[in-house]
Amino acid sequence: MIPLTLAQIAEITGGRLYGDPTAVVTGEVVIDSRRAAPGGLFAAVAGERADGHDFASAAVAAGAAAVLATRPVPVPSVLVADVPAALAALARFVIDALPAATVAGITGSSGKTSTKDLAAQLIERLGPTIAPAGSFNNEFGHPLTVLRADSATRYLVLELSARGPGHIAYLCRIAPPRYGAVLNVGHAHAGEFGGLDQVARAKGELVEALPPDGAAILNADDPRVLAMAARTPARVVTFGVASPEACVRAADVRLDDLGRPSFTLLTPEGPAAVALRLHGAHHVPNALAAAALARELGLGLADIADGLSAAVARSRWRMEVHRRADGVTVINDAYNANPESVRAAVAALRHLARDGRAFAVLGHMAELGAISRASHEEVGELAAQADLAGLIAVGEEAAPMLAGARRNRSWTGEALAVPDGAAALDALANQLKPGDVVLVKASRAAQLEGVAAVLARGDDPAVPPAHGGATRPPIPPSPPRGLLEEADR
Ligand SMILES: Nc1ncnc2c1ncn2[C@@H]1O[C@H](COP(=O)(O)OP(=O)(O)OP(=O)(O)O)[C@@H](O)[C@H]1O
Ligand SMILES: [Mg+2]
Repeated sequence: MIPLTLAQIAEITGGRLYGDPTAVVTGEVVIDSRRAAPGGLFAAVAGERADGHDFASAAVAAGAAAVLATRPVPVPSVLVADVPAALAALARFVIDALPAATVAGITGSSGKTSTKDLAAQLIERLGPTIAPAGSFNNEFGHPLTVLRADSATRYLVLELSARGPGHIAYLCRIAPPRYGAVLNVGHAHAGEFGGLDQVARAKGELVEALPPDGAAILNADDPRVLAMAARTPARVVTFGVASPEACVRAADVRLDDLGRPSFTLLTPEGPAAVALRLHGAHHVPNALAAAALARELGLGLADIADGLSAAVARSRWRMEVHRRADGVTVINDAYNANPESVRAAVAALRHLARDGRAFAVLGHMAELGAISRASHEEVGELAAQADLAGLIAVGEEAAPMLAGARRNRSWTGEALAVPDGAAALDALANQLKPGDVVLVKASRAAQLEGVAAVLARGDDPAVPPAHGGATRPPIPPSPPRGLLEEADR
């Protein structure tokens, strides 16, 4: 954060100041009072469970210089009509004050966080880089990330998310990007948008916001993304696995035993070998997007290849692969789910299991609207096609997966619908043997990451609780869903 006086903050936000106008905010801007630090600014927001205004005094006691609030609080504060709008105004002011900082935005239906984490690990090689924690990608997480920038910052690698038209354009006004990468147009939140063409309209707002001297980094393998070339004044740079004409490509893609892709990165500067540490072939296009972006920013081919091969998963519950001591493998991909990411995860599951037994514990895919039932049935068909040994559909909305799976008459696996994660663990008790692989995946709202955690520890009960004997280990509670990122509900 660049230092700002309370007088400046009041002026930038159009707010009313209560306190010393010369007091200076030097620390981070936060909306969680427990994270308030000396010199910081605490933005009070009324959440689903608590109202930040009740914690204003605690934040100041923890050292915060002031509070951004919408109603009076008994501590130094700037009162505004709307906190996200005030954060947006502050973030825009900060970005305008830092002309040496280059902004790159990443959007798409799947893979934004994974790609942002890859790209940040490359771009950090060029200079001080700010990138959001986890999936901070909405009207709260985005400005708070931008506000972390200071005079040392050279790059911001930002994740932009949308639940509807205008959202990405709004985020782009907060921190105008010079570079923008669009990964794919898929069914995530499709119910909210109305269809893939509407998703494409919204995602393309990123490239519409770019300046003529910027670059739009587009997935040549996705026709809806490639078509965005017509919507940007910026130079177009393409990437693609399947498109021979793409500028940045991959050849000879191979997966190791744990589903980690290695490939030859093909760029105008020549080829280079890459071995990703992420799991799943779907991370190849993500890596290409990150490579194309870093290349535009001036990173050399050797650094790109080396950086991709060294990059780790920075954000949790996305294709985390746990090998248990007893030889069972658990894939925790419980962060979110949509038809494309389930397909990608089932493909990885099948690969990891090789000829052995593969199980999937799948919760619902949220926000699919009219296509919800059909999409869940398709997941069932997919499970049968992948010849899974077992499909456990968790929750009512996921139950249509069973009908889909049973359409495949040659499938010999078992399909089961259970009400919740605990029942899924009961169903798997005594089932797993060395060599088996289990995938756990669902929309965020299903909170299956705790189920994956229990499975990964390998202490699922020896005797199913139905026998009255063993008790199942408790499923760890899910952390509350934050305001800072879009999450499928
Ligand atoms: N290119 C891709 N195609 C399909 N699935 C993908 C792709 N990249 C990542 N995924 C999968 O999508 C899920 C979410 O990944 P990630 O968090 O990177 O996406 P996101 O776009 O940031 O999601 P969100 O909209 O929740 O912010 C994970 O299961 C991940 O493995
Ligand atoms: Mg994300």
